[in-house]
Amino acid sequence: MNIAVITGASSGLGREFCLQLDALFHRMDEIWLIARREERLTELAAAMRNKTRIFVLDVTNEKQMDGFVKTLEEEKPVVRMLVNCAGFGLMGDFADLEYKEQIGMLEVNCKALTRMTYECIPYMRKNSRIIQLASSAAFLPQPCFAVYAATKSYVLSFSRALSEELRKRQIYVTAVCPGPVETEFFDIAERYGKTLAVKKLTIVQPERVVRDALTDSRKRKPVSVCSVWIKLFYVCTSLIPHTVILKMMRFLK
Ligand SMILES: NC(=O)c1ccc[n+]([C@@H]2O[C@H](COP(=O)([O-])OP(=O)(O)OC[C@H]3O[C@@H](n4cnc5c(N)ncnc54)[C@H](OP(=O)(O)O)[C@@H]3O)[C@@H](O)[C@H]2O)c1
Repeated sequence: MNIAVITGASSGLGREFCLQLDALFHRMDEIWLIARREERLTELAAAMRNKTRIFVLDVTNEKQMDGFVKTLEEEKPVVRMLVNCAGFGLMGDFADLEYKEQIGMLEVNCKALTRMTYECIPYMRKNSRIIQLASSAAFLPQPCFAVYAATKSYVLSFSRALSEELRKRQIYVTAVCPGPVETEFFDIAERYGKTLAVKKLTIVQPERVVRDALTDSRKRKPVSVCSVWIKLFYVCTSLIPHTVILKMMRFLK
């Protein structure tokens, strides 16, 4: 049985990956949809033409994840594609935000993504692909988004290393690094703090991010950066010392 596994399927980029992959796949036996909000997943599954399976689970809950792993062990599918989209961010000064909520970002964005990747790799074959949602926040430290940016640096670094390791098995990994995307992400992210004004200039629609990510994944690119602004930002953060960029960012508030 050939399957695709998509976390964060109930909203935003994850949902969009489900819809675009559903239109692309012709020989996928099942698409496995993962998130906590069941109604959202049921609604999405009804709109898809491929056969789906819904997993209502919190990716940070070890017991629930054990149940998912058991399903993999029992059914022994071939995981043709894994898309790790579950994630969230919180803006605001590190010292002012709740500790537990900030650790939550590490749990979902790093730990759960790492476990899901680890558990799926044994079921992957030649030409299987992994897409990991990092962010342009991975490119340099981000004051007032400190923990989130650090989690995304982890995702980018981890994914690039994994891309090298798995290349010899012909499994391809792409880290997707969008700037701001029009999703529910900001409903949570802006609960305590506001995004830089430049967000309005650079925001893109999820359809475009996912289209570019799938093209880059097909081309086996280790990193996918959407839009001219964010590509420019990527180049700047590679060429200009981060201390200089951080000083400039103080004036953008
Ligand atoms: N939007 C942006 O501007 C942007 C930019 C760069 C990178 N990203 C990254 O892209 C990814 C997707 O974000 P988005 O913009 O699509 O945000 P979103 O619309 O808020 O979607 C986040 C998804 O993650 C799921 N999720 C969160 N915590 C979870 C948990 N503990 N267990 C299971 N599922 C969980 C949510 O599902 P439930 O709530 O139903 O569980 C939801 O489906 C994230 O990793 C984010 O960091 C977003």
